[in-house]
Amino acid sequence: MRQKPILAGVIGSPVVHSLSPLIHTIWAHRAQIDGYYMPIEISASYDGFARAMDALKTIGFAGVNVTLPHKENALRYSDEASELAHKVGAANMLTFADNGAYADNSDVSGFESAVKSAARDLSLKRPCLVLGAGGASRAITVALQNLGAKNIFITNRTEEKAAVLAERFGLKTLAWEKRKDAVESAGLVVNTTSLGMNGQPPLELDGAKIKPNAIVADIVYTPLETPLLKLARDAGNAGVNGLTMLMHQAAPGFRAWFGGEAEADDSLRAALVSELERRRR
Ligand code: ATR
Repeated sequence: MRQKPILAGVIGSPVVHSLSPLIHTIWAHRAQIDGYYMPIEISASYDGFARAMDALKTIGFAGVNVTLPHKENALRYSDEASELAHKVGAANMLTFADNGAYADNSDVSGFESAVKSAARDLSLKRPCLVLGAGGASRAITVALQNLGAKNIFITNRTEEKAAVLAERFGLKTLAWEKRKDAVESAGLVVNTTSLGMNGQPPLELDGAKIKPNAIVADIVYTPLETPLLKLARDAGNAGVNGLTMLMHQAAPGFRAWFGGEAEADDSLRAALVSELERRRR
């Protein structure tokens, strides 16, 4: 008898622009796996989110990625969660099984593998600078600590939010006005804010220089090359863009739910870039 197709998806609001369905569809096609990965818009509160998860579990979904604004709800809903998800305080993956839902956080492992894929010589002995103190910042901070970074500075427009993260994860804070100097002295810089994204203000690092061999990462992927990443490229430094992070965070979900190979390679990147170009037209 023909087996039922595997079902998975991404939950969020707004979710219509998510590239995750395309990523999973390409991997499923490559591996000749019969499955569907769909965007599911849920804007409700925790109760609405929980009811939707119960329904997906009943229908037989293998699992879902969870994005804004539900990453904390995903952890709350789960019956069991990884150490990483607990540490970050949020989950972007829920895997459904007969005995409940398991939460994990592949934003952390995704950032780790994206950085490793970009930099051959990954030495995090020099200070790391995290710009921004929102949800993405938390996962990235945990990833940097997993990669061995000991000296992490965080800076954010709203200083109290940086102070909360600094307290929680053992980081040092820097005034937002000092970001240009901090970028110039860091061995790794990561922008976790929406600054530099199309339609948003720039990060304003005019005239800043990057240290030799510093790694620069930006969660933004529209545009693909943000002014911060251009600074890195002009100086000959390794850069990690938001698309690289997105592909790497998607891989654990695909492997868990569809059971196939999930390579974040150039051909996948090309397909995503061409989709972004199509949307821009
Ligand atoms: P995410 O989960 O993607 O990190 P978020 O939690 O809304 O999203 O966080 C957005 C980040 O971008 C925050 O660090 C935010 O700074 P504030 O905490 O001061 O709001 C930052 N950000 C957004 N717009 C900004 C702007 N115009 N100037 C400076 N920082 C900005």
